[in-house]
Amino acid sequence: MPVDIDATVIANRRLSADYNVLSLDAPEIAAGARPGQFVMIKTSGGQDPLLRRPFSIFEILHDTSGRPSGVSIFNKRIGVGTTLLSRVEPGTRLPLLGPLGRPFEPVDPPAAAWLVAGGVGLAPFVTLATALSGRQTPTTLFYGARRADELYCVDLFEALGVTIVLATEDGSRGARGRITVPLEAALNERPLGNPVKLYVCGPTPMMRACAQLAAAHGRACDVSLEQVMGCGLGGCYSCVVPARGTGGGAPHHIRTCIEGPVFDAQRVVWDAVAGH
Ligand SMILES: Cc1cc2nc3c(=O)[nH]c(=O)nc-3n(C[C@H](O)[C@H](O)[C@H](O)COP(=O)(O)OP(=O)(O)OC[C@H]3O[C@@H](n4cnc5c(N)ncnc54)[C@H](O)[C@@H]3O)c2cc1C
Ligand code: FES
Repeated sequence: MPVDIDATVIANRRLSADYNVLSLDAPEIAAGARPGQFVMIKTSGGQDPLLRRPFSIFEILHDTSGRPSGVSIFNKRIGVGTTLLSRVEPGTRLPLLGPLGRPFEPVDPPAAAWLVAGGVGLAPFVTLATALSGRQTPTTLFYGARRADELYCVDLFEALGVTIVLATEDGSRGARGRITVPLEAALNERPLGNPVKLYVCGPTPMMRACAQLAAAHGRACDVSLEQVMGCGLGGCYSCVVPARGTGGGAPHHIRTCIEGPVFDAQRVVWDAVAGH
């Protein structure tokens, strides 16, 4: 069950002009959080913005005795609310609702897990990589950005034993081009008898391209959609996307906050998803 608390900001670590990691004291939310779930944060004490903003749970924090004590958020500054979160001072209290949404289902060995992240789409994958590491599932992170200095927190994945494949559009680190380039090469090389599941989060065109690659290679693929959300609880319908039923059938509009944000990529009607 989600809980609504006033969470104290413990730390605000700046990664660059546009990215920061915000740590919040929230033991109740941390204790219940599963990989890929999200929280709704009220980014200001006033009326602007009025509505809370959705953020993936980036890390589950623990106290010195190992108990879950809080969560962190990997924040990319794009508008009013994310700018406020980029500047917030430790000690500030922010209304925080969570954990919310359908989580990722980690695969077990002998299946491998390939996590495919574009930009801020890295956010839901630390919790997933941690769960996969606990199951000893061989895990690879395919992580793409525009430039080398926009690749963050790779060390968190290295510490979990994850194999790292990087790509930058300008070639400044890893493969040159989009992350789908090394992903497609890896799919081509992997024998069909070796199961692998793809987990994807990033810009809509990238998720769509990954979904098409996975389908062409007969691989399972889950995507985590980042639609605009007003409530996070199923009440406002601001987050709907057209999707097929779990057993196929005609597309209908579903709320990503309660049926997602994680979906089987083949359910999503990509032509009708608002992109960014
Ligand atoms: C389940 C989920 C998890 C998310 N996780 C993260 C995360 O971990 N880190 C993170 O930085 N962001 C995440 N987002 C996106 C984040 O919620 C938006 O960036 C944020 O709501 C924008 O708020 P704002 O007030 O700064 O922007 P606004 O001032 O409201 O809008 C500025 C511009 O951004 C556009 N915009 C608003 N929401 C989105 C969106 N979801 N995607 C793309 N463009 C948008 C608006 O249309 C507008 O053009 C997530 C979204 C969802 C649904
Ligand atoms: S965000 Fe309100 S219904 Fe999904």
